[in-house]
Amino acid sequence: MKSHFQPIFNELGIELPSPSISIQSKFERQAEAVLALKPAVFSFVFGIPDKHILDACRQQGIITAGAATTPDEALALEAANVDVIVAAGFEAGGHRPSFLREAEDSLHGTFALTRQLSQIIRKPIVAAGGISDAEGVDAALRLGASAAQIGTAFLACEESGASTAYRERLFSPAARYTELTRVFTGRLARAVRSGLAARFAGREGDLAPFPLQSQLMAPIRNAALDTGNLEYSAVWAGQGAANLHHRKAAHLMEALTAPWR
Ligand SMILES: Cc1cc2nc3c(=O)[nH]c(=O)nc-3n(C[C@H](O)[C@H](O)[C@H](O)COP(=O)(O)O)c2cc1C
Repeated sequence: MKSHFQPIFNELGIELPSPSISIQSKFERQAEAVLALKPAVFSFVFGIPDKHILDACRQQGIITAGAATTPDEALALEAANVDVIVAAGFEAGGHRPSFLREAEDSLHGTFALTRQLSQIIRKPIVAAGGISDAEGVDAALRLGASAAQIGTAFLACEESGASTAYRERLFSPAARYTELTRVFTGRLARAVRSGLAARFAGREGDLAPFPLQSQLMAPIRNAALDTGNLEYSAVWAGQGAANLHHRKAAHLMEALTAPWR
């Protein structure tokens, strides 16, 4: 695996790391931290937490929200008595949090999934993916969602942790073109089209599984961000990135909620 990436490390003048193959899951410890903090809502992706964690949330009055990328995943979350189901469409920025089938086999669009879930799920549904304005929120509500979840439009605001170069990329014409790729982490995720993903397109066999691929790529992602080399950066973004207008979270929030005020 390393040999496939060595040329890029050479090009950037950085050391190729030796990712550890014994990776401990941090989930149980993260869940303990959540239970200690007692937030109003505990939202998770990539599966269903063990019953004892969900029971502990219920006892403490913490609302649980789980992401589904297919109707089957939504039904599984509902069967586990998760309180809120997030309908995560393939337009969404970042990782595709599929857990029953491969992410490539779980490519429902936000509105098709939301509509379908509104017919088969009794829990509240939150539509996520590709929504960036009040019209999108309105459409989600009309299709049966109780709320919309928005990532990319907030990522583009000054208050986010994204670098200036990253945020400028989201407002550039490049943001019209996003793609699903495993190259940055080993898991399928949507980012602005990049030279790195193009280089490994159709070469999934050359990539390590998550999280090894992510460890391998971390120095490349960091060096690329430091030097402003956006072709090698993971500029996570949803398909709504072509429709961003606000650089302040307060302005975005005002615009998103205007029709309901
Ligand atoms: C950079 C990035 C990181 C994300 N990280 C998480 C995460 O850790 N947990 C999660 O539930 N969703 C995460 N999401 C998904 C968002 O919660 C949301 O569902 C998604 O961004 C909605 O699609 P949009 O980006 O098209 O608005 C992330 C999204 C992005 C763009």
